[in-house]
Amino acid sequence: MFERKSGILLIAGLGFFAFAFLSNAVVPMLMYRHLPEKTAEQLVNGNLRYQFEDLAQRFPQAFEKVYGVPPADPEQAAKWYDEHLAKALRLGRTVYTAEGCWHCHSQFVRPVSNEDRRWGPVAKSWEYQNELQRPVMFGTRRVGPDLSREGGRRSNDWHAVHFFDPETLSKDSPMPRYPWLFEGRPDKPNDRGLALLTYVQWLGSWHETYPYYEDYVVTPIKTAPAAEVAAE
Ligand code: HEC
Repeated sequence: MFERKSGILLIAGLGFFAFAFLSNAVVPMLMYRHLPEKTAEQLVNGNLRYQFEDLAQRFPQAFEKVYGVPPADPEQAAKWYDEHLAKALRLGRTVYTAEGCWHCHSQFVRPVSNEDRRWGPVAKSWEYQNELQRPVMFGTRRVGPDLSREGGRRSNDWHAVHFFDPETLSKDSPMPRYPWLFEGRPDKPNDRGLALLTYVQWLGSWHETYPYYEDYVVTPIKTAPAAEVAAE
């Protein structure tokens, strides 16, 4: 077998496969084996609270219809928001899975092709150590952009209009419309709509100093000079 080139290639191929399994699966598993898996409740953070309260202010009628009114006492209200937030995260993830968003969007910034310049920090194993990543939402392909750093990148009303009809904001977008997440108009998201908005704002919000909440500098995209465009 070793006298022939194909035999050596076969062994090398299997060897590389085994090595990839070791470095990409076994090593991270050993590294994070003591890290407990976080529940949706434990995933609630300051950035996300900000977004959820923003939802309550932007869509007061829709928000009240789905969640009711927060208690007057500030301490109770904080607890109330956190409880609804955790539930919204769970439902949001269910909607994300059910609507097949993962067919077109990844949740994984790879350490290649300067992806971090476009989407922010390269994804780390610990970011997937939670209930909402069971099964992981790596996605199957990228028709649209990676979403793992989407939180805080755009406002809630941008997302609402975009989910209602992507083409309003992004000409010729192949992303489908999701009118069933609304009661007729983009400013009237229903329970699933509000949950999906919360979920999308959660993505990447665990990076305390990142990104759009703090000092993330977006790399400018190079565009062709006006003269060249006109000549085409
Ligand atoms: C058929 C493929 C497809 C599906 C399915 C799809 N998208 Fe998209 N999505 C795109 C494309 C392409 C873009 C970029 C153009 C645009 O902004 O509409 C995009 C853009 C986005 C953006 C804006 C990203 C940014 O900051 O520029 C968000 C957020 C998003 N999609 C979320 C979702 C969610 C949530 C779902 C499921 C409810 C979903 N998408 C389903 C293709 C898809």
